[in-house]
Amino acid sequence: MNRHIFYNAFSIIIALLFFGCQNQTKDLAEKNQPLAVDTHSFSNPEEVMITNMDLDLKVNFEEKKISGKTSLELNNKTSATQLVLDTYDLTIHKITKDDGAETNFSLDKKEGFLGQPLNVDITPETKVVNIYYETSPDAPALQWLDKSQTTNGDKPYLFTQSQAILARSWIPCQDTPGVRMTYRALVKVRSDLIALMSAKNPIRKSPQGFYEFVMPQPIPSYLMALAVGEIDYRPMSPITGVYASPTIVDAAAYEFGNTQEMIEAAEKLYGPYQWGKYDILVLPPSFPFGGMENPRLTFATPTIIAGDRSLTSLIAHELAHSWSGNLVTNATWNDFWINEGFTTYIERRIMEELYGRAYEEMLAELGFQDLEQEIQELGENNPDTRLHLDLQGRDPDDGMTDVAYEKGALFLRMLEENVGREKWDAFLRRYFSEFEFQTMTSDRFVDYLTANLFDSNPQKVEELQIGQWIYGTGIPENCPKVESKEFDKVQMQIDNWLDGTAARMLETKDWTTHHWIYFLRNLPDSLSLRQMAELDVAFNLTQSRNSEILFAWLKLAIHNEYKRAYPALESFLMTVGRRKFLKPLYKELAKTPDGKRMALSIYGHSRNKYHSITYHTIDDILDWKNYLARLEKAKADSARDTTKSNVENFLPE
Ligand code: BES
Ligand code: ZN
Repeated sequence: MNRHIFYNAFSIIIALLFFGCQNQTKDLAEKNQPLAVDTHSFSNPEEVMITNMDLDLKVNFEEKKISGKTSLELNNKTSATQLVLDTYDLTIHKITKDDGAETNFSLDKKEGFLGQPLNVDITPETKVVNIYYETSPDAPALQWLDKSQTTNGDKPYLFTQSQAILARSWIPCQDTPGVRMTYRALVKVRSDLIALMSAKNPIRKSPQGFYEFVMPQPIPSYLMALAVGEIDYRPMSPITGVYASPTIVDAAAYEFGNTQEMIEAAEKLYGPYQWGKYDILVLPPSFPFGGMENPRLTFATPTIIAGDRSLTSLIAHELAHSWSGNLVTNATWNDFWINEGFTTYIERRIMEELYGRAYEEMLAELGFQDLEQEIQELGENNPDTRLHLDLQGRDPDDGMTDVAYEKGALFLRMLEENVGREKWDAFLRRYFSEFEFQTMTSDRFVDYLTANLFDSNPQKVEELQIGQWIYGTGIPENCPKVESKEFDKVQMQIDNWLDGTAARMLETKDWTTHHWIYFLRNLPDSLSLRQMAELDVAFNLTQSRNSEILFAWLKLAIHNEYKRAYPALESFLMTVGRRKFLKPLYKELAKTPDGKRMALSIYGHSRNKYHSITYHTIDDILDWKNYLARLEKAKADSARDTTKSNVENFLPE
């Protein structure tokens, strides 16, 4: 090749590469444009957007606070002169810009659950702002556990829960799922503790208690996570492992031994796992959720360690968020179903790959029952039964129900059944690659669906009632049938028992956890004490070590006032903080005066051991604030008039 031509060709290639890259950068900038207005954030990302965060934090267990500095890198697209951030009960000490010069800021009045906007003066040239701050001891994202509340019982523990809008209570940020950033963190903890984040984790313990984290993929603030405590690690495969208290880490590693297989199943369906490692952190029992999909490090409740891997669909669920949620993210909490509906659908597909269709059908049917119950409680015309929610003016947590999960999953299943699995899977694979690291709204999804799945058949949108599914209430009439042959067998045994067969004679020997859950959920509402005792003796239910079975049984026990299970109930309520379990149990107790008294007594002792997310829910169920006020008044009255003592009437025994 002539040298001249070679150089020409070379410069064309360079030029192409250069423009190609420029285009890519432009694309990225466009991708970062918020898609929808988020009424749950005060921030102004449409003007100036955080692209990276550098945290330098110290965790102080004595004072229950995190303090330090966060440096925010900015992309100031509109030459804005003010950066507005979300905060919740943060104390801001000072704010500096790139060169270290202090800049002015103001904190506006607190607006309930939204917290306070923090307005920071910047110039169009400002690249970084450094915020020196500390958290409040009552920060709702943080749970500080004293040593008695941990699995091991000898070291304190701290963990965060940022979803939905709690990140602002431990980091000043643009707390909206529409903004993504990379982050680095330097975290100082007591030298005998380990720190972990939703980032690359330095598996080894630091003798001085300094931990450094890097999160190279951009994530929204609700996926920021930190945990500090006495934690051990067991690798399970080159990219998966378990972190947990030393006393349970081996049990956890056994329980989650199928995680690698789950990743392979998900990758086969929806494309590569994009986050490097997938580790699981087992939290102390007060963790308010079953699981939280913090990237690279799922947080999980210890209540799924059953000894037989029977509750690991929860891991499949959190893993599935690595595609639906963490990669393609709901633009605002109004489209929560974009995260949870897709994830529930994918969770079941993963479980089907691992354990077969019959297993999947059991999960789907239990999920369907949850949905029916949720809709019955909400009322079928309730706007909260829509997939696309209107959460404006409300705490997003209040509108996040099983509807997003189960109606969302059914909607996708309906689409799958209509176009066929092959075409549907290919569509989803493309969806995840096309929108990776971007946000999604209901409207954008419908547009994409119309253009890419129904391109040759646009009337399908009408025919399949897509609009009704997303924007309508209740369950549309073209909802797929959810059936499980396995549960037909269980139903038969229930019928036999009710027809007089002794409980111990029922055919239950092949039953798995899910058969038992169905069994307990589908017994008649009212059972006699004799019937309860018969079941208990035959199947040892009060002693069950499986949290889901025990939970279903305890609910039944409360309903039928089967007091023999009450010590187990009490110890469950005093140790477990998972809201999904506590809410129905307290609700059931609150239905009778005796039950309510018992609930108030237990709650009085446990409330400060629950996470704020859990106690906010239970406060409402038990009308706790009102109860405390009445209690105070009774105390005051009896102090004034010693002849009448009203206090005992209110005091929990
Ligand atoms: N992301 C959710 C948990 C969440 C939702 C936290 C809304 C805050 C606000 C997580 O993926 C989840 O759905 N967890 C479920 C378990 C799942 C198997 C249904 C839970 O915790 O019950
Ligand atoms: Zn989820």
